[in-house]
Amino acid sequence: MTNYKLVFAITFAALLSSCGGNKNTSSMTKEEIIEYRVDTLLSQMTLEEKLGQMNQLSFSSIEALQPAIEAGKVGSILNTEDAKTVNALQHIAVEKSRLHIPLLMSRDVIHGFKTIFPIPLGQGATFDPALVQKGARIAAVEASSTGIRWTFSPMVDIARDARWGRMAEGYGEDPYLTSLMGAATVRGYQTADLSDPTAMAACVKHFVGYGAAESGLDYNSTFIPERQLRNVYLPSFKASVDAGALTVMTSFNDNDGVPSTGNTFILKDILRNEWGFNGFVVTDWGSTSGLIVHGFATDAYDAAMKSINAGVDMEMVSGAILANGAKLIDDKRISMGEIDRAVSNILRVKFSLGLFENPYTDETSPSVMYTPDHLKAAKKSAIESAILLKNDGVLPLKKSVKRVLVVGPLADAPYEQMGTWVFDGEKEHTITPLAALKEMYGDRVKVTYMSVLDYSRDRNTSKISAAVSAARRADVILAFVGEESFLSGEAHCLADLNLVGAQKEMLRALGKTATPLVTVVMAGRPLTIGDELAESAAVLYSFHPGTMGGPALAELLMGDASPSGRTPVTFPRMVGQEPIYYARHQVERPANENEVLLYDIPVGSSQTSTGCRSFYLDAGKDALVPFGFGLTYTTFKYGEVHISSSEVGVKDTLTLSTTLTNTGKVAGTEVVQLYVQDCVGSVTRPMKELKRFRRVTLQPGESQKVSFQLPVSDLAYWTYPMVYKVEPGDFKAWISPNSKVGTPISFVVK
Ligand code: NOJ
Repeated sequence: MTNYKLVFAITFAALLSSCGGNKNTSSMTKEEIIEYRVDTLLSQMTLEEKLGQMNQLSFSSIEALQPAIEAGKVGSILNTEDAKTVNALQHIAVEKSRLHIPLLMSRDVIHGFKTIFPIPLGQGATFDPALVQKGARIAAVEASSTGIRWTFSPMVDIARDARWGRMAEGYGEDPYLTSLMGAATVRGYQTADLSDPTAMAACVKHFVGYGAAESGLDYNSTFIPERQLRNVYLPSFKASVDAGALTVMTSFNDNDGVPSTGNTFILKDILRNEWGFNGFVVTDWGSTSGLIVHGFATDAYDAAMKSINAGVDMEMVSGAILANGAKLIDDKRISMGEIDRAVSNILRVKFSLGLFENPYTDETSPSVMYTPDHLKAAKKSAIESAILLKNDGVLPLKKSVKRVLVVGPLADAPYEQMGTWVFDGEKEHTITPLAALKEMYGDRVKVTYMSVLDYSRDRNTSKISAAVSAARRADVILAFVGEESFLSGEAHCLADLNLVGAQKEMLRALGKTATPLVTVVMAGRPLTIGDELAESAAVLYSFHPGTMGGPALAELLMGDASPSGRTPVTFPRMVGQEPIYYARHQVERPANENEVLLYDIPVGSSQTSTGCRSFYLDAGKDALVPFGFGLTYTTFKYGEVHISSSEVGVKDTLTLSTTLTNTGKVAGTEVVQLYVQDCVGSVTRPMKELKRFRRVTLQPGESQKVSFQLPVSDLAYWTYPMVYKVEPGDFKAWISPNSKVGTPISFVVK
């Protein structure tokens, strides 16, 4: 058992020594005290100890790490699993290293620790930042109880290509939505009081542009011009930094030839000088040495030099900085100022988290995992993340339903429904849709289960005919299909976005029966499910929904809850449309409303007979499902849009409003969305940009005025030349249920 008195004495001594002990700090602010402590401690450190703080190692064993920790050669460890190990390592650092500097323990806690929330893409679909914040808080409470005080989340990469498996890890395609979700996640992890032992430092990643990987292939190069970088890819990072994110992670990609880990422009010019970030920058896994693989550095020495000089503070696992830092200083290839900058940034975070006062984790306190509150929030998040894409009236399931046929590889796959990045999630604690349906229906309804396919990639079609026979004896078919968790996430890209295995065949056969087919998709990305939408009576899309996915989906299907999720990404009809997103720029030859497609074009047609317009001959011009789309069990009517003034100055604030009415027979939640178009710019502008949204719940027949305040300054963008400003001129605004529909109202900025 831990000797807490000894621990306290040693920590307190370390604290005093790190403060210098002789300056009166009583008149200083908290921040000034931290700076003072950072400077004082830094002045006592040898170069070796400084380089040690910049070094992060992956956990192997306590014995293996002990010598390096004792020698002050490690600043952080990733991938510890329990409080006992964390404390053992921390004891070595605090009691046996010369300066008693605690370690920062880290782990990928991406969408929950034990209680797994929907994958971030699903959380994006909630359009509910407060709920996302709550999920992050719960993750931090659970993870910090095992000593983890730093997570590598949120991922705020804008993702517009569903082939990229990591689309699952972010909040979708939209800079505004992602900015709100990223900032909410940061607040949830960190809280207002960083020294709270349950506060977990956030790490905003991957800086920057990683989601634009060419051809949706992970780790691939990006070619993002500066204006697009600033207008599309940077705002979500800025929002997270403004929310107080303590750390930022570099990305694996090179942009226009410069790998992020060696990119001074993004790490120094933008992050530090423009944004004033004062936390620390960590590389992604092995990315300093990765500069050699990129062909951007000749060897570890060169790679260490380039990453330090570019603005990296801590190196994740590849050890090049620790090994080469001293020689680089001797050779004057890096300055001591760069090293001191990096170490100060790291120490500042450690002091802010209260690690010097409180380096240990209580091993005796009762478990905080899977508490009823946590499960309740995870269920709410799974409910709000599910998107109803189609419903011909079969949902919610009627009371008259007495025989339900449940099929599909995702109906009872507790591990798969948790989704990607669940190092700590446990399938034993996960409730599947099948389990939840059986529990909720009890003896009242006969639930027959046939998986038909053992897993999503299963190509064995031999059990389909038995399912078709069973379907004829059922009142409704509930088919749970999608992707195993393995099919999305890091390094898991796909060049085909159709349902894998024999799932298409299974659904096609079931869809031909007279029994209504309800298809529930659980996946890590939008899939090309045009056929399945046509064949099914209803489709509910649930990005991997986590621990409580089963009860959430069962409640939605049975009508105990109403769907309210909205697509956080555009769904393509065909993979060849990727990258696809709603905020495309206006092109010179936009498509017409009713373009003639491939099989309707007469043989022998002349070259220009289709009008020379911007559309695919096979896929057409539209997405399968637009951004922001989602149905529910009621209907809503949008009134006319009112605007406070049709002529405004750049310093004014607009009020845009409409009246929303629930025109159906049940209560429901609508996500009311405000889009704006800047009609003419110094460069071409997106056809629409999301500027505000609000979840509004109304009873049947109820109306409510929904108003949005929009400061005109929110219409600023990076213009030509590269200046961030509002350009006067004509604008349009829509208040609408998704990015595709609505009638615009015009206004002019003078
Ligand atoms: C590599 C991934 O890109 C990053 O997102 C993750 O946080 C680190 N590995 C640490 O596991």
